[in-house]
Amino acid sequence: MSYEIRRQRGIATVYDPRTGETMHPGAGPWAEANGLYVQGAGLPALLGTCGAQAVVIFDVGLGAAANALAALACRQALARRVPAPRPLHIVSFERDLDGVRLALEQAAALAYPLGHEAALQALLEAGRWQGEGITWELRLGDFSALIDQEPQRADAIFFDPFSPQANPEMWTLPVLEALYRCRRLRTPTRLLTYSASYGTRAALLLAGFFVGEGPQPAHGGHSSMASTWFADLPAPLTPAWLRRWRRQAQPWPVGSDPRQRRAMRAALQEHSQWLQFGQGAPADEEGADAEPRAGRARPAARRGPRGRDSAPPGRRRRR
Ligand SMILES: C[S@@+](CC[C@H](N)C(=O)[O-])C[C@H]1O[C@@H](n2cnc3c(N)ncnc32)[C@H](O)[C@@H]1O
Repeated sequence: MSYEIRRQRGIATVYDPRTGETMHPGAGPWAEANGLYVQGAGLPALLGTCGAQAVVIFDVGLGAAANALAALACRQALARRVPAPRPLHIVSFERDLDGVRLALEQAAALAYPLGHEAALQALLEAGRWQGEGITWELRLGDFSALIDQEPQRADAIFFDPFSPQANPEMWTLPVLEALYRCRRLRTPTRLLTYSASYGTRAALLLAGFFVGEGPQPAHGGHSSMASTWFADLPAPLTPAWLRRWRRQAQPWPVGSDPRQRRAMRAALQEHSQWLQFGQGAPADEEGADAEPRAGRARPAARRGPRGRDSAPPGRRRRR
């Protein structure tokens, strides 16, 4: 078993000695899973609307299953209160099932897995669990390969790998672009992540999302919410964020090629997010020429979609 239980401020958390990171540091697994991911995705409202089509969640980094179980528990609680909530379909991506094994072995210490042992066991053994109004499927393997073949389309994405420093391959532009391709077309797809770094937010914008502040973590700091529809964001980043981004020493998406920076800078500048504020992006005082000229520019600005989207704005895990 590669993971260990560690108590932080009295709350049992899952610690990974290989990365030196704790899953859900700060508020602890259940509080973060509910506050940032389930509430951030607006899951109760999504499930509560009329319709027979399942609400699909991509749970990226199943880990010890706190986020997935919080979604599952949300659906179960709703079913006790309202007549016919929409079905829930959770698609969990993971390459290492030791987190689920730990959740089962340490269910009493962690508390949140209690009552869900059969679902966790079925996921381990069969890669699938079916409950009342809930389907839970495991995609086992490397996420960057799996996401390119994923047939489902997501309503919400819980994006919870280890940090960009410890788990850089998960935070690259190609990975986020692959997630963007799994969006719904007629309704918004929302992505939640604990990372609020300039590099992460720039990568989300460049991948095609609109980006805003996510729910405020209970222990302080920031998180990010991205959406395929601008009007879906309660607190979108403003052009002032872009001004601050330009002043950062390392504002680039993880693993991006320095020769692409000129094109990425131009694509961020032209992102339709800034048009929502009336005047577009603030002038780039430094100018694109401040960036290295070498290299072929990435095709400019796969911008966030327009049309219905363009309504006016109404771990020690390092972030
Ligand atoms: C911070 S933990 C996730 C915590 C989890 N969401 C929870 O609620 O307990 C990150 C997880 O991402 C998984 N992961 C990291 N890189 C991955 C990859 N390339 N493919 C699939 N899973 C990956 C790790 O194995 C780890 O379990």
